[in-house]
Amino acid sequence: MTKPLLAVTKYAFTAVAATVGLYACLLGLLTTAFVQSHVIYLHKIQMPWFKDLDTPELFGFLHNQVTPFSIPTLNNESLYAWHVIPPGLYRQHEARLVQKSAGRIEDITSRTGFQLLKSDPKALLVIHFHGAAGTVASGYRPPNYRALSAGAPDRIHVLTFDYRGFGRSSNAMPSEPGVIADSIAVLEWAIDVAGIPAARILIFGQSLGTAVSLAVSEHFASRDQPVVFAGIVLVAPFVDAAALAATYRIAGVIPITSPLAKFPRAFRALGEMIGDKWVSRDRIARFVRIAEAGGMRYRITFVHAEDDWDVPSHHSQTLFWHAVNATTATGIGREELDRVKVSKMVDLGAAGTVMEWKSENGFVREEILKSGLHDVIMGNSVVTLAVSRIFGSVGLI
Ligand SMILES: *[C@@H]1O[C@H](CO)[C@@H](O)[C@H](O)[C@H]1NC(C)=O
Ligand SMILES: *[C@@H]1O[C@H](CO)[C@@H](O)[C@H](O)[C@H]1NC(C)=O
Repeated sequence: MTKPLLAVTKYAFTAVAATVGLYACLLGLLTTAFVQSHVIYLHKIQMPWFKDLDTPELFGFLHNQVTPFSIPTLNNESLYAWHVIPPGLYRQHEARLVQKSAGRIEDITSRTGFQLLKSDPKALLVIHFHGAAGTVASGYRPPNYRALSAGAPDRIHVLTFDYRGFGRSSNAMPSEPGVIADSIAVLEWAIDVAGIPAARILIFGQSLGTAVSLAVSEHFASRDQPVVFAGIVLVAPFVDAAALAATYRIAGVIPITSPLAKFPRAFRALGEMIGDKWVSRDRIARFVRIAEAGGMRYRITFVHAEDDWDVPSHHSQTLFWHAVNATTATGIGREELDRVKVSKMVDLGAAGTVMEWKSENGFVREEILKSGLHDVIMGNSVVTLAVSRIFGSVGLI
């Protein structure tokens, strides 16, 4: 070998060895609870950086349309929340809302917006469970709240909040049981303090929030006095944390654990060390079985874009299958369901495909869009319709 070639080979070898070594160190770090928490929840990534969350007007809302406040939990966490009034209702009460001061408040029950929610026997409430990273005000979340209300702009209120460790919520480290406990506290606040019965509450989740949505839905349905909410809308969900790790790319580009997925044994070992498993496929199946067995009405809609580079849309298709399978006594195989889809699925061209599965007690609907990415989709009309279709199916709007 000539000298220069030898040098290049040596250099290349060192570079590869350094990369592999660094990657192994990163994976090693992933086995610590602290690093796991930061990698799964990304809660210290606080977009937007320069705007005050207590001034929702900076995020495209009307004066006093949003009330920032806090919801306490039983284990002493404090969860930062926004109550968003729908624009039609705002218009009816504009003179009063404009006069009053806006911003964060200790006791939300004194606010006009809260009273409009609590005193209206026809008010509907969407409770929003956001994805990893950021806060209630990040990215496509504010347009998402507007899309949620748009199907009945004088009726559909939105309640959104930051999990522990995120934004202005108390500082504990997020974990699967912790985030679920927080979310239960928010639902209890909606039922007990705001006085909205479960039949008028819809659960909406995106990305990580879909796993939270299914966990709380199963929790409430499993209580001694079972509670089933009006419906569940899941945007860009994932099957479980391990399946997500096998495909996930940060910002659709940087793979973290997916290269390791090529080595099943090592990948399983890593999976076992990760405490938070978020097994949505089992939770959705248990939820559907409990509802079916108890004759409780339920409605589930999946929305996923084919060009979602963060979480591929096959995750929704797998969850759809687990939910449909749970509606049947004897089960239905994946291939069998795929055959049913050939005749039952509606092709809407550029808008994608829709497959709805009805059972005696509910429906499970899968909408796979051609485009919408991972989060732009949240502000789109498909989300408005998913919410209004569910409330409409029970004659609420
Ligand atoms: C919450 O705080 C109260 C008052 O400070 C305290 O008495 C109680 O033990 C705390 N509960 C938990 C679960 O930490
Ligand atoms: C599908 O449902 C059947 C019957 O309840 C069950 O035995 C089976 O384990 C389910 N399959 C999956 C993949 O969950």
